[in-house]
Amino acid sequence: MINLITVANWKMNPSTLEEAIELVDSIVNLPFKNKVILLVPYPFIPYVCQAINNSPVIEVGSQDCYTELSGAYTGAISIPMIKSVGCSYVLAGHSERRRIFGDTNNIINKKLHLILKSSLKCILCIGENKLEYNQGLNKKVCTQQLEECLNGCYESDLSNIIIAYEPVWAIGTGLNATPEIAEEIHLHIREWLRINYSLSVSKNMVILYGGSVNQNNISSFINKNNINGTLVGGASLDINKFSKILSSVI
Ligand code: PGA
Repeated sequence: MINLITVANWKMNPSTLEEAIELVDSIVNLPFKNKVILLVPYPFIPYVCQAINNSPVIEVGSQDCYTELSGAYTGAISIPMIKSVGCSYVLAGHSERRRIFGDTNNIINKKLHLILKSSLKCILCIGENKLEYNQGLNKKVCTQQLEECLNGCYESDLSNIIIAYEPVWAIGTGLNATPEIAEEIHLHIREWLRINYSLSVSKNMVILYGGSVNQNNISSFINKNNINGTLVGGASLDINKFSKILSSVI
């Protein structure tokens, strides 16, 4: 049995360090037992790591990384930097990075290998867009993303990866996938893992759902057999909503 995980993706929020510290301090004071991973903007990472104060249940991650380890790449942030300020996770392949910043499956694959090589854990996002969904291509798109993003990964790598199924049309839109749709895709992902790796990888993989998760619909997702938690964007910035989400995750 896999323990439920909640990932909070702050995206490019909040605007100031003061607000970020206020938010993390409020989260630290909430009563919850299951693991929470906070994906915070780069400048706030050391402060957030300090604020969680070796919490046994909260971990910190970055929302992206660059594909090179050091050098003349003005504005880029490397994995060793991310690691050295206290992150244990790196998100790769978020649809906003794919759509706005041009990350392809090949780029994501390169990042994923560097993340794992640096002994960090990777949260890999996959999911179809609206058009693909309307054309009934959701499983096909997810399969291709899994094939290309996990290319070259060995079975031993898979325990350091979390997969987040995030239909692009559900992110930030208020239009969450139904728990039944999410469950169906999660099962499809497990089947792909069984065929391409092993039954044990398939059973043990943490697969999260993300896309307009909130305090009202969280239970319907985590009650499903193949959903091991959620990736929450907007609702993770509102402490009232996020506290209700965390109190549902038991
Ligand atoms: P949302 O974002 O919860 O605001 O839809 C999810 C995400 O960051 O992928």
